[in-house]
Amino acid sequence: MKQILVTGAVGQIGSELVSALRKRYGKDKVIATDIRMPTDIELRDSGPFEFLDVLDPHHITRVMQIYDIGTVYHLAAVLSAIGESRPNVAWQINVNGLYNILEAARQYHCALFFPSSIGAFGESTPKDNTPQDTIQRPSTIYGVTKLTGELICDYYCKRFGLDSRGLRFPGLISYETEPGGGTTDYAVSIFYEAIKHNKYTCYLQPETRLDMMYMPDAIRAMIELMEADADQLVHRNAFNVTGMNFTPEELAAAIRTHQPEFEIGYDVDPVRQAIADSWPNSMDDSAARTEWGWKPQYDLAAMTADMLDKLAKKPTLDGQANVARGR
Ligand code: SER
Repeated sequence: MKQILVTGAVGQIGSELVSALRKRYGKDKVIATDIRMPTDIELRDSGPFEFLDVLDPHHITRVMQIYDIGTVYHLAAVLSAIGESRPNVAWQINVNGLYNILEAARQYHCALFFPSSIGAFGESTPKDNTPQDTIQRPSTIYGVTKLTGELICDYYCKRFGLDSRGLRFPGLISYETEPGGGTTDYAVSIFYEAIKHNKYTCYLQPETRLDMMYMPDAIRAMIELMEADADQLVHRNAFNVTGMNFTPEELAAAIRTHQPEFEIGYDVDPVRQAIADSWPNSMDDSAARTEWGWKPQYDLAAMTADMLDKLAKKPTLDGQANVARGR
């Protein structure tokens, strides 16, 4: 088996994906790369790590020459809220970085995974049960770059026969690595604050409904899609996938079933609220279910129970956890 390259390996998805891929295919088969050095000991010591800037095509080629790469999971990207504050950087990394990776993947005959997002939809997209194939006129630079990514990945598939595949992720929730600069980050921060202080101030309005997914489902979705029989795939870039959808009020209520005293307040950030309002309330992921058998395992209740349990056991949060949970 050829080796697997992961870009953005230190990021929110990357650190958990690398660990899952190493468990599945062997530690030396997975080359983790990032422009940041990993602080996580497991990521650092469990297999090869290379410094890699996706904006430097020669750098990518050099890594391709050192290793025998057959598949690339290209996760290096800027999220939606940071993108709005630095549109130029979002375009550079999300589009030019992807282009450099696509060119390297074409030259070295690699399969490519590309993560798109609910952000690739916009105000004119049907909001409820958003279809797989529908209107896509995103109003954020993040959405523009993700939609560009979907299209260019499909183009490389059709034009050059590159085996590109992708998912439109909703907000991702994890107890391992915190996101940074996203609009859906509240759904992670709320758990940290619940454990530490038993209260949380949310930057989105109480009724803002968005799709979400627990990280173990997201990792499984990526690997299952990349392992799927190509003949079964009608779509390529990118499949709608979702695990659950909820509002901040509903998430707070789910946390209250474990911590009855938990309180939520609101201090709305107009920038992130506008971004969230332009995204779907819920996506239809039936194409993923039909074409490669997608099925989420975690709903709101199961995710909430697991997040609180795992965060309470995190060494850095331990003492505070016991205070907030009355133990
Ligand atoms: N979680 C992402 C964000 O909020 C959406 O894909 O930017």
